[in-house]
Order: sequence, then structure tokens, then C-alpha cells
Amino acid sequence: MSDEKAKLIIGDKTYEFAILEGTVGPSVIDIRSLYSQTGLFTYDPGFTSTAACDSSITYIDGDRGQLLYRGYSIDQLAEQSSYLEVCFLLLYGELPSAAQKKDFEERITRHTMLHEQMHYLYRGFRRDAHPMAIVCGVVGAMAAFYHDSTDITDPEQRELASIRMIGKMPTIAAMAYKYSIGQPFVYPRNDLSYAGNFLNMCFAVPAESYEVNPIIERAMDRIFTLHADHEQNASTSTVRLSGSSDANPFACIAAGVACLWGPAHGGANEAALNMLRAIGTPDRIPEFVARAKDKNDPFRLMGFGHRVYKSYDPRAQVMQKTAREVLDLLGVENNPTLQVARELEKIALEDEYFVTRKLYPNVDFYSGIILDAIGFPTSMFTAIFALSRTVGWIAQWKEMIGDPQKKIGRPRQLYEGVERREYIPLAKR
Ligand code: CMC
Repeated sequence: MSDEKAKLIIGDKTYEFAILEGTVGPSVIDIRSLYSQTGLFTYDPGFTSTAACDSSITYIDGDRGQLLYRGYSIDQLAEQSSYLEVCFLLLYGELPSAAQKKDFEERITRHTMLHEQMHYLYRGFRRDAHPMAIVCGVVGAMAAFYHDSTDITDPEQRELASIRMIGKMPTIAAMAYKYSIGQPFVYPRNDLSYAGNFLNMCFAVPAESYEVNPIIERAMDRIFTLHADHEQNASTSTVRLSGSSDANPFACIAAGVACLWGPAHGGANEAALNMLRAIGTPDRIPEFVARAKDKNDPFRLMGFGHRVYKSYDPRAQVMQKTAREVLDLLGVENNPTLQVARELEKIALEDEYFVTRKLYPNVDFYSGIILDAIGFPTSMFTAIFALSRTVGWIAQWKEMIGDPQKKIGRPRQLYEGVERREYIPLAKR
């Protein structure tokens, strides 16, 4: 805590509020006593200036384009670590020793299968159901299948639920994909890596085995790593808010999946690729760029801009490099979508409108291109984001549940509706 106090003057009264200091990043004014002292609330739709919790998991410096998981920068982790090691780091705070890593990987791997009865849940969906609708439903339904890990007051059950969700998410997402294309479900294989197993469950068929290419496996692992956590974004805040009522962890993660689905958040990777396809050929780019700049047109360039990163998105830098590796391997350079992406990236990085507003390609711009090249339909993109982000949601949820200061989340409002009035009987209306 700083010795300095924030002073708020209303009329002839001055109120003082403590200033709390984090390790790095902006300090915060502690306004918990604001209402009791002044009878006023603060107004901050979109939480642009409000810290809703304290956390030790992820740090973002948007101006410097920095993203740290437990102090380690995302580019180092993406280059040198692996997704499951990052999961351990996010959950427990430190990089694992060799023995801890082995034990953690074994625990996750032993929880990759779904309760067999859950297969019937899938059959209840229409074939053309969006994978995110299925993932959201199936994750929520886990509470009905895994009763022995829903008591949030028991740390062992919290741990078991966490391991189960990280282990089963790839299976849940891959099954949603298989269901949508009418192919049989492929069971998880414990001899493969986390990323390799996911690729196998998506692309193998009983009639033919699938060879996991190490470059694609690495790219998949990087996509998982880069999306693993992102501080108090909309879906994470949704998970925290859901969990603040002591709801079971499966319900909370299902709420996170629902929030992530929106095109302003995780749905942007799907929207970005659909947009590139809608543009079709590089000669049509100026038309779309003009629409993005037109204030009377709600159209935005999907995959550009970020609420927090205002210099560049460090995840996008890693993804750009990975995209190059995958595209070289697959030899899809002449793909028209890719040509549009390249040209659009160039134009947006030079155009005064985008430069002055600091609208750079974000992680979803590149991850969409990679996933498309690997062979995923756009409808799977956000489901893959959800499976990657599950660990972040869980780490944040566990941190909140373990916090003695936890309170149910209950924002207030500025009411602008009608004041109290008398009921009018139907005959008189
Ligand atoms: N295309 C055109 N103009 C844009 C865009 C865009 N993609 N993004 C922002 N702007 C303009 C906006 O119109 C405004 O202009 P002006 O100052 O003239 O009114 C200015 O830039 C600031 O925009 P804002 O809406 O105040 O910015 P925000 O921080 O509220 O929005 C955002 C952030 C990500 C929602 C937004 O940039 C956007 O809608 N981008 C497209 C969707 C997208 O790619 N989302 C994925 C984000 S990365 C994944 C994740 O972490 O979830």
C-alpha cells in the first residue's frame, strides 16, 4: 500500500481512499468504502478503469506489448516450453521439476476419456450444430457425470475437477468436430502428446491411421500456449463472476465458453477467416478497408485491434512466425485467402486510420490462418480457443476460491428507468 491517498472532493467534503500497489503495472484506488462513505457508486461500463480482483497469474502491459504468465514472457514460453508445462505453471505458480512435469502429464493423460454415456449427449444435437454450442453444453453437463468433483469447498475435488477439465477438453472439442462431419468418434491415445492427441482425435478415422506431423503438432501446441490465459478478459471475468456464487467448476467453465463465443472475443478467429473469404481477392480489400473506416457502417476488420494491447499483440508476433512455418510445410502459398490476409496485413499496418488508432493484427488473425491451413473448419476455431483457455479459467477460478476475501460479484447500476408508479388495471390502459 502506498502512503499517498487518493482524495475525492464532493461539495465541501473530502474523502480519502488508499492506493494499493501491485508488483508491476498501474496502482489502484481502493474504493471499497466509497458507497458507505459517500452514498455514491462509480460508473465504468466495460470495466475500462476497474480492477475487479487481485491476481498473481498473468500480467499484461498493453502499451509495451508484454504478456507474462507467472512472470515468464509469452515469447520465451512459446519458443522453449510446452502447453502442459505452461498449464502447470499457471495452476501452481512455478515451472515444474522433471518429476513434477512427468507426474502432471500422466495425471492429465489419464483423464482424457469421456464417460461413455456422454456420447449420447452428442447424438441429441443436430449435425449442423455449432461446435461451441456443443462444447458449452457438454462442459456444463460434466457436473452431471462427475459428482465427485463438484464440492468446491474440498481442495482435492477442486484439483480433480481441474485435471478432468484440462484432460477432457480436447476430447470434447474433437468429438464436436467428428459429430459435425458424420465421422465416428476417435478415442484419445495416451501415447501421443496433448497436441498430437487432439490432432489425431480430429483427423484420424478407424479405416486409416493419421500421422501427426511434428511441425503441425508444434504449431498446435503453440496455439494452445498462446491462448492459455489472458488476465481478466471477458470470459475469465465471466468464470470468476459465476464462481463467486460458489457454482460448481463445470458450470463456471461452461459460462466462460459461452462468453468466449462472441465475435468481439474468442469468436474473432472464426470471424476473421470468414471475413478474409468474404473479401475473396486482394483487389476487393480497399472496399472493405473503406467500410471499416466508415463510422456509419458497423463493419470492423476482424482480427485487428485489442482492448489492452495498444502497441502490438505479442502473441500475434509468435503466431506470425508459426504461420510461416506451417504454410511453408503445407505449400499453400497460392491459397487466395492467404493472399488476401498478407495484403490486408500490409495495408492495415501502413494505413493512417489503423496506425493512429493502434489497430494491429491480433493473435486471432494469424491463428485463424494456421488452423485453416491445418484443415480445421472455421466453426472449430473458437472451440480450439476454448480448449486452450480452459487452464487459464481454472487457474483464475481456483485463485478466487482460495482467496479469503472472496465475495459474490454484484455490480451496481445507474438506474435510468421510470420511477415508482401505480399499477394501471387492464381496462384502463
Ligand atoms: N476495425 C476498424 N476500426 C476499429 C477496429 C477494427 N477492428 N477496432 C477498433 N476500431 C476503431 C473504433 O471504431 C474506434 O475508432 P474511433 O476512435 O474513430 O471511434 C477506435 O478504433 C477504438 O475502438 P474501440 O471500440 O474503442 O476499442 P475497444 O478497445 O473497445 O475494442 C476490440 C477492442 C478488440 C473489441 C475491437 O478492436 C474489435 O472489435 N476488433 C475486432 C474483433 C477482434 O478481432 N477481436 C479479437 C480480440 S483478440 C482476442 C481476445 O483476446 O479475445
